[in-house]
Amino acid sequence: MAERPPLRHLTSINDLTNAEIERLFERADRYLADLGDPAIPHRIGTSTATAHGRILASLFYEPSTRTRLSFESAMIRLGGQNISSADPATSSVAKGETLADTVRVASNYADVIVLRHPRDGAARLAAEYASVPIVNGGDGAHEHPTQTLCDLFTLRRENKQLRNLNVAVSGDLRGSRTIHSFVYALARFGANIMLMPAKGMGLPAHVTARLEEEFGARAVAREKYAKANASVDALYVTPDRPHQLSLSVGVEPDVDVKLRKEIDVVYVTRFQKERWAEASADYPKIDAKFLKQRKYSATSVLHPLPRVGELDVSLDGDRRAVYFRQAAFGVPVRMALIDLLLDPEHGLARYDGGFAEAPRPLYAQAIGIRCANPNCITHDPLERHYVGNKFWALPSAGAAQRLRCVYCEADTEAAIVANGRRREFAALAPGAPAATTPTTVFFASAADALAAGFTERAPAQKRARTGSRTKVAHSP
Ligand code: CP
Repeated sequence: MAERPPLRHLTSINDLTNAEIERLFERADRYLADLGDPAIPHRIGTSTATAHGRILASLFYEPSTRTRLSFESAMIRLGGQNISSADPATSSVAKGETLADTVRVASNYADVIVLRHPRDGAARLAAEYASVPIVNGGDGAHEHPTQTLCDLFTLRRENKQLRNLNVAVSGDLRGSRTIHSFVYALARFGANIMLMPAKGMGLPAHVTARLEEEFGARAVAREKYAKANASVDALYVTPDRPHQLSLSVGVEPDVDVKLRKEIDVVYVTRFQKERWAEASADYPKIDAKFLKQRKYSATSVLHPLPRVGELDVSLDGDRRAVYFRQAAFGVPVRMALIDLLLDPEHGLARYDGGFAEAPRPLYAQAIGIRCANPNCITHDPLERHYVGNKFWALPSAGAAQRLRCVYCEADTEAAIVANGRRREFAALAPGAPAATTPTTVFFASAADALAAGFTERAPAQKRARTGSRTKVAHSP
């Protein structure tokens, strides 16, 4: 049997290095130059035969216009063909087929699979079972990496260099997967991120933690920017330094920043009504009145679309509105991505790839703590035979072990550590290092450990066995 090249998936924007993103954009630029419509420069007007004989499968478990159609258009423009499952009601999902089985089957029908799914982390599960590249077309509130590629490419075409660019992100920052991928990329390329959330819809804690801990972003003290930008809820800057492997933890409120008042980009998002039960109150609306201040005079207004009232249609003719071009760039950007995923000679499969992450222990046990995110794919009853508790153990300061779900990347805290063989547990002590031996089991609480049939280890026993109170607390 011929040896297969290693598979590269795109489940998160962090599966690509900055250099790979740049390479992809160079390819997209080339497609626009070679195949662009002479009358409409942002539109691909003709086709090539790069992907002749190759097939793209779209598996969409949630509605989509741009992502699915632009992927399919991109594949046709490359000379390839599409097979599409655009509605789970008309596929075997309606009969109860799992995602894991579906992608295993579809891997034999296509050379690349684009997946959209309502569960956070679904793309990572699919990548574990597929034998062709999986592209995340949006998984729950987790990430939408190809949207971010379109967003960054749009800024490039607008001649906006990312380093030190002031980018305001507005709306439902909690539930918008496009925002989560976008802010990671902004930090990685050194942009300043200005958060303008709708009330109660700020970035999830694990996203801001990652901005600071992995991507080197620093929160700026409010008094440094509030006079010029009162509507900005929080501001993150990324100091100049190499971004790969940045490990420093914590906020530096005195970070020295020379902020300009001008806002270079406003990125607007809709309320994610499919993810939240409660109605949105006082949702920010971007209109001509909002943009009339001088600091917005050269702003580019982006929106992943669809819009549902938060971006006024009166802006459509405004020179600052770039959102329809942004949607059009979905075709050349996705052409470049398909090309890079399928090209065995010069494509992504040749490289180890991925944004370098700090090494961290993997924790996986069938029992014990579950992901705290109720929408995580690990909580989908249909997938229970295919997906389990799997976490990265993160450096933790308090009396809890931080665990990041490998699938949805949300954080969960364990207060209890147990020995799975002896079935004994103890509370974690402050500053406990991650101890992930094959017998380590974490629980959220003592009550959970007791409910699982574990017993609390007696303090006297602990001292006798180890002679160290701290050690015992971490290794019962
Ligand atoms: N921006 C975006 O993902 O749009 P669709 O939901 O229409 O694919």
